[in-house]
Amino acid sequence: MPSQNYPKNSASYVTHLECSETGSRYDHDRLHGLSSAGRPLLVRYDLAAIGNTLSKDALQRRAPDMWRFRELLPVAGVKELVSLGEPITPLIRLARTASRLSCGEILVKDEGRLPTGSFKARGLAMAITMAKAFGKTRVAIPTAGNAGAAAAAYAAHAGMDAFVFTPEDTPEVTLREIGYHGAKVYRVNGLINRCAEIVRAGSEAMGWHDLSTLEEPYRIEGKKTMGLELAEQLGWELPEFIYYPTGGGTGFIGMWKAFEELQAIGWIGAKRPRMVAVQSTGCGPIVKAFEEGRDHVEAPWDPVETQMHGVRVPKPLGDRLIMKIISESAGFAVAISDAAAEEARAELAREDGLHLCPEGALCYAAFKANLADGRVARSDQVVIFNTACGLKSPMPPVERRLDCTKPIDYSEL
Ligand SMILES: Cc1ncc(COP(=O)(O)O)c(C=O)c1O
Repeated sequence: MPSQNYPKNSASYVTHLECSETGSRYDHDRLHGLSSAGRPLLVRYDLAAIGNTLSKDALQRRAPDMWRFRELLPVAGVKELVSLGEPITPLIRLARTASRLSCGEILVKDEGRLPTGSFKARGLAMAITMAKAFGKTRVAIPTAGNAGAAAAAYAAHAGMDAFVFTPEDTPEVTLREIGYHGAKVYRVNGLINRCAEIVRAGSEAMGWHDLSTLEEPYRIEGKKTMGLELAEQLGWELPEFIYYPTGGGTGFIGMWKAFEELQAIGWIGAKRPRMVAVQSTGCGPIVKAFEEGRDHVEAPWDPVETQMHGVRVPKPLGDRLIMKIISESAGFAVAISDAAAEEARAELAREDGLHLCPEGALCYAAFKANLADGRVARSDQVVIFNTACGLKSPMPPVERRLDCTKPIDYSEL
């Protein structure tokens, strides 16, 4: 069944929105930004009712896309989904690599297969569906690149205007992609936090809906589908470890929420993966907070020195939520250098045919480091998130040339 045939006006199980810090309640019948405490809002559902209504068998008969979990999504009562076709992303087993490293099962959840080539499609499809349902016609987003591409594409699909603000050294292909979808995209001579300030300050004058990470509650719900999908793909048994490249942390927070909700509806037990937040040595505020035993990021990371664009977030808004998940899951945070990530990216492309994005490669490099230092046991099942398509990032040039007008010495090839 194509997702466009998704049943309209199916029952909504959303009960309210809740401040992630204070627990105070907000009505879900209108669009909200942050809570009055300045913290992200989380969508809450009548999980007991969902547990009584939805069965794993019924789920299996649905279209293989991210909307199949509709009872656990805010869109259940919404008339029109803004969808570009968001497939279930594959879980790829790296058998050759596991044998080479003498370790347990390595699975890569390859999010590069989604529209606009990254996992940002999940969050933005959800946020723009909700913005449209609430009558918004104009959106704005600060972005490391991929979220801007997804926002631009989904806004175009919804017939909305999009304004996108991105650091000036964002990969050229992504910048052009954003412009190509008709968004007004601006190169900003500052990092994503400065882009976010521009969006926030312009909201009143421009009348746009702010799609910044965690500033609106629905991108988390979209990203949550990564956790729902993963649980289903693994037969409702979660792995020992999840390695996730953590910038703003939406996916990290969303997946954890998915696991909590699946347990509440009785579909999984209490076993949780150890959640590993992977960052760069050139921008690792979560790693620093973890190593200092804090429950939040004390000060923005400065100076930021990394080309791992997705994790260049000096101080994530959801820092407390991320730290809480690391602690509850007995997880940890690891920083990897750009050079080690690029080496790991090339290694996997060459040795196992899977082309990770640089941020996905950060995770693979972190996993290898933790296998070596014993944090990961050789029997553990590990899921690594590849959050975008490798082709969106630069690759080394090809230097070999052949002159087809001259005889070729095949022994020299
Ligand atoms: C490829 C890639 N990986 C990871 C991230 C970080 O994602 P999150 O905000 O969920 O931490 C981003 C964010 O821009 C990204 O583009």
